[in-house]
Amino acid sequence: MEKKRRDFMGLSLGLFTAAGGIGALYAMKRSWDPLPSVKAAGFTTIDLAGAQPNILTVEKWRGKPIFVLKKTADMKPDDRDVIIGSDRFHVSIGLCTHLGCIPAYEGEQHKFKCACHGGEFDASGHQIFGPPPSPLEIPPFKIDGTKLVLGEEGPEYKKMLDAGLTV
Ligand code: FES
Repeated sequence: MEKKRRDFMGLSLGLFTAAGGIGALYAMKRSWDPLPSVKAAGFTTIDLAGAQPNILTVEKWRGKPIFVLKKTADMKPDDRDVIIGSDRFHVSIGLCTHLGCIPAYEGEQHKFKCACHGGEFDASGHQIFGPPPSPLEIPPFKIDGTKLVLGEEGPEYKKMLDAGLTV
């Protein structure tokens, strides 16, 4: 009787652990998955509804890497932020403005670091260290609900351009 009870408890614990493991794997996979996007005639539409804070997504637009980072509440607001609903996003062309390498995002430090010559950018894309002469460029974009259409110049992008926040 006692053995049966122990077997049952062992089995329950095993199943519980397995379910937890699968849940954790599913959560990890979700954060690794790219955001859903559609490409058509030079435009790339990215749905930001499922974006996770502080997880960098790299999309491709006209052969260039595009960084999309949902900011966390403790990241400084910036005029370069793309605001969708109550969320703020950093969106940029992921090419270092020094000589064009692709910087990596260091999530714990909230920084982009370029391995080529040590350049660094903050989570808003401003150059903060090393040789990069200017911030990461912002690609032309238009906001459409929770979607971002790359390649179209919406009013928010034009405002940034007029204010000299990107080239
Ligand atoms: S290419 Fe990035 S620092 Fe030189």
